[in-house]
Amino acid sequence: MVEGKKILLGVCGSIAAYKSILLTRLLIKGGAEVKIILTPSAKGFVTPLSLSVISKNEVLADMVRDGAWSNHVELGRWAHLMLIAPLSCNTLAKMAHGHCDNLLLATYLSATCPVVFAPAMDEDMWLHSATKENIERLKSFGNHLIPVEKGELASGLYGEGRMAEPEQILSFLETNFFFSRELEGKLALVTAGPTHEPFDPVRYISNQSTGKMGIAIARELAARGAKVELVLGPSAMEAEIPGVHVIPVESAEDMYQACTNLFPKTDITVMSAAVADYTPVSFSSEKIKKNSGTLTLELTRTKDILKALGEQKKAGQILVGFALENHDETAYARKKLQSKNADLIVLNSLNDPGAGFGFDTNRVTIFEKDGQETRFDQKTKQQVAKDIVDRIIKLL
Ligand code: CTP
Repeated sequence: MVEGKKILLGVCGSIAAYKSILLTRLLIKGGAEVKIILTPSAKGFVTPLSLSVISKNEVLADMVRDGAWSNHVELGRWAHLMLIAPLSCNTLAKMAHGHCDNLLLATYLSATCPVVFAPAMDEDMWLHSATKENIERLKSFGNHLIPVEKGELASGLYGEGRMAEPEQILSFLETNFFFSRELEGKLALVTAGPTHEPFDPVRYISNQSTGKMGIAIARELAARGAKVELVLGPSAMEAEIPGVHVIPVESAEDMYQACTNLFPKTDITVMSAAVADYTPVSFSSEKIKKNSGTLTLELTRTKDILKALGEQKKAGQILVGFALENHDETAYARKKLQSKNADLIVLNSLNDPGAGFGFDTNRVTIFEKDGQETRFDQKTKQQVAKDIVDRIIKLL
């Protein structure tokens, strides 16, 4: 946890600089002390005034202010960690080659604490050999990269190069530097994503799950010190997370096999995957050719993994299930808690805007065995993951 930590945040000139306001707010809310340095061009993207209000500290940008020298050596030694987010292509190149023509660079060169950087740029710049080489150089100096994400870029194009979201940056810091190891020594199993139920070599039935919620839960459990096995159905999401071992699976049957193998050893199991309830009865090894008539697929029920694990559950094991409903939500969630022998059921209502498949946000209600029911506000999926993991820790 970042509580009591001193964090020096460097902000470069990039459209992603607006995220530095949200990032600062998260760090301050978490109890960190934050000092901010802007590069000269960052001032065009985010104002020192906004950042100083949020950080409750003066924001620095110039080597010399009102005839006085800003002591970059002192700043670099004050911090437990220096975070540069967003890191622009220009500052990246300067850092990689030891340039020192502004306060941020001078502080970086004199920092004795760990340095973490979260780049932000357009995809073509990100993929350029010069950028790749500079990133490798920074890493070889012992600095830590927070990988970029795929998404819509400032150019309007879609691709790699977006700065990681503030929640992800916070979670990276907590996982790698400021861990509160409440779950140290615990083994967690998380399922995420959809499953694919094939009926010929090129076709399958599935659902719209992206895996975002489950991946956020895996990240949060790892951030609190658990060793995490993530059984992940077909998902386009980035799931390379320190402390998380990914077991990729395709079908509900594969997921069942992976989970039943792992479950006896786990302390915490969170079943957030949207497992297909039905699978085709038969599989044609040859691609089915179309003809003029209709095609009827016969489907059969898949194994209910959550129920199977609930039946095997031993004292001390925590089992969490999800429910996605659009009517009689509370009654169904309570019924699931009992019928699956779960300790918690996390309900997503399809009636809540901004919740469910594909959204970055979610709004959940957590049902507990003792009858307690907690409805949370709409939050980012990473914050929802924190709320779920907090409940799990209380149960443990
Ligand atoms: N689940 C599972 N195995 C399945 C189907 C679902 O483990 N074959 C898990 C999901 O990961 C989730 C929970 O069960 O944690 C959802 O419960 P389920 O009874 O499948 O709810 P719905 O899909 O909402 O089904 P229904 O409303 O039809 O009861």
